[in-house]
Amino acid sequence: MKATEGKKKKIRLLFVCLGNICRSPAAEGIMSGIVLKNELQEIIEVDSAGTSGWHEGELPDERMRDHGEKRGYDFCSRARKFKRVDFENFDYIIVMDDNNYRSIKSLAADHEQLKKVHLMTEFSVQFTAHGHIPDPYYGHSSGFELVLDLLEDACEGLLQVIKKEYSLF
Ligand code: 4NP
Repeated sequence: MKATEGKKKKIRLLFVCLGNICRSPAAEGIMSGIVLKNELQEIIEVDSAGTSGWHEGELPDERMRDHGEKRGYDFCSRARKFKRVDFENFDYIIVMDDNNYRSIKSLAADHEQLKKVHLMTEFSVQFTAHGHIPDPYYGHSSGFELVLDLLEDACEGLLQVIKKEYSLF
């Protein structure tokens, strides 16, 4: 059944990074904007989490919020740690780098859960030379700008993949 037919459950996307205060909340905010722009909010749900619980309950990093604001985003989710049950509740679990990939894969119970895990850069359209979304936490402001460039590109690519897979055209 298509996602648009009957009472089919929503397509649920979970973005994951280490702290859930820089990359994944930005991905969540950017993707939410794209979903709204495409009027798919009844069909696609977006959330984010961290492989660590170090910043549990915090708003995104102020630097990430400031850089996002300059592009018209309001990153305002609260950090939480990834839980095993997220494998059951989400269709796509999209990680930012290889460390996140290893951490999340090590928690998967079976092949079905493993298949849900994707690297964000799999969906890149323009920035295909980047194999991961680099951690900006200990870097400079250019790192935050790069993260936003990469995420905006990959989120657009992700929407195209989902539209194709779920026949949303
Ligand atoms: P994120 O960035 O994984 O993109 O949220 C980081 C946030 C916090 C830390 C490292 C990376 N930290 O070491 O606290």
